[in-house]
Amino acid sequence: GVNMERSLLIIKPGFLKYEKQIKNRIKKLGAKITHEKKMVLDDVLITKHYAEHLQKDFFPELKKYMQSGEVLVMCAEREKDGLIADIRKIVGATKNPEKGTIRHDFGIGRITENVIHASDSVMSAERELNIFFPEMFQNAEKTK
Ligand code: CMP
Repeated sequence: GVNMERSLLIIKPGFLKYEKQIKNRIKKLGAKITHEKKMVLDDVLITKHYAEHLQKDFFPELKKYMQSGEVLVMCAEREKDGLIADIRKIVGATKNPEKGTIRHDFGIGRITENVIHASDSVMSAERELNIFFPEMFQNAEKTK
């Protein structure tokens, strides 16, 4: 519907053991996981996904960590708008996530190894989903 919103989520290396618990928290928001794939991120995917961080001093560390093991990439979708904001609330902040958030409850208190990535806006979500699930977009052009 017109209020449908979706978000790109990545459970980061070392945290796939919390897959069930993390998914349960997402599902409690009324969202469903429509696409998912387990993978090791190659240089192309890392560079595209973290394009805005390529020049940051933390990028080399981020890249090395993100390629250190399998990740679980997911698309979460909900018919009611506000999903991206709702997910970011339960994910928690990058720095000092609050008790009760995914990053706090499953995290190990490190800024890079912060359990999960979640899109920060509708625009980022569409951009990121296109990188990991191009098949979601392949009909858009044809139906024009
Ligand atoms: P993520 O939501 O995946 O987006 C960028 C990632 O960079 C962030 O989570 C962290 O894993 C990582 N990172 C490392 N250092 C920093 C920092 N100082 N500020 C923001 N992100 C950082």
